[in-house]
Amino acid sequence: MLETIERHRIAIEAFEATSEEAIEKFRIEYLSRKGVLHELFAQFKGVPGNEKREVGQALNRLKQAAESVIVGKKPTTTAAETAPEDTTRPGHDANPGSHHPISLVRNEIVSIFKRMGFAVAQGPEMEDDWHNFSALNFPPEHPARDMQDTFFLARSPDWALRTHTSSVQVRSMETQEPPIRVIAPGRVFRNEAISARSHCIFHQIEGLYVDKDVSFAEMKQTLLSFATAFFGDETKIRLRPSYFPFTEPSAEVDIWWGLENEDDHRMTKGTGWLEIMGCGMVDPAVLSASGIDPKVYSGYAFGMGIERVAMQRYQIPDIRAFHENDLRFLKQFTSVI
Ligand code: DAH
Repeated sequence: MLETIERHRIAIEAFEATSEEAIEKFRIEYLSRKGVLHELFAQFKGVPGNEKREVGQALNRLKQAAESVIVGKKPTTTAAETAPEDTTRPGHDANPGSHHPISLVRNEIVSIFKRMGFAVAQGPEMEDDWHNFSALNFPPEHPARDMQDTFFLARSPDWALRTHTSSVQVRSMETQEPPIRVIAPGRVFRNEAISARSHCIFHQIEGLYVDKDVSFAEMKQTLLSFATAFFGDETKIRLRPSYFPFTEPSAEVDIWWGLENEDDHRMTKGTGWLEIMGCGMVDPAVLSASGIDPKVYSGYAFGMGIERVAMQRYQIPDIRAFHENDLRFLKQFTSVI
């Protein structure tokens, strides 16, 4: 019996755990219920009393040796695997995802206004007539309603997909006491033919500040601070008189883009100025409609299109690119945080 044990000891010592399969085969051969050790321990019962001590010890050592092979369980590596790594081998593709350019621009604009004390406000994309039009001073049949082609809900024409984020102004004033300082980014919808310049779905950011003694000059300074933070320190702005039903006076804000090359001429229609948003002092009628006393409070509001700003920033000539999910387009933004 001692000879048999010795034979197995040599075999166990010589065993090379080259793979998981080899280790499993070894375990079945030696340590399973029908394995070598089980069999030897069964035979042990028949060993004469005077040999029991020596045989027993040898058998226990054999068992430990077999078990340590399983416990170690690490396949030994081959020479090729231990060779120094080939650092010239091409790496694995990391293929990281990326933010959509609209998200990048929105996040940047929001963070600039947050630093100036604005909080983010939200409103529904499906709006009622009151918040999208009436409270914003568009009476029924007012020609200004024609400025925006609206997707009305067929079953209940009092509801529509919001045509601008100005609706969030009304919701904020209805639910908060001044001072109110909010910025409302969101998706808006207009029934327009899709072309390189316009889409029926796009994004806006609305701003609103209501408090005692809010002035036009304050608005101008806030918008200049935004423009320099977003477009660069040297940025100049100009305000042109304009008309919106919900602000009085109203203005359009342009930034100085320059007229250095053909693209500049094309983008600015030869003026060097680029329109980036609308703004104005909140009309007293809008304050009243939203439950705020215009004799005590005043406010300013502004609104800008995110696509327009993103197209300028990344020199994207066609608004449809934002919606096509073409990876060749989207992947260009992977390196931007
Ligand atoms: N709601 C306007 C639009 O969709 C943008 C706008 C203009 C918002 C002037 C304002 C504002 O808050 O004061 O074209």
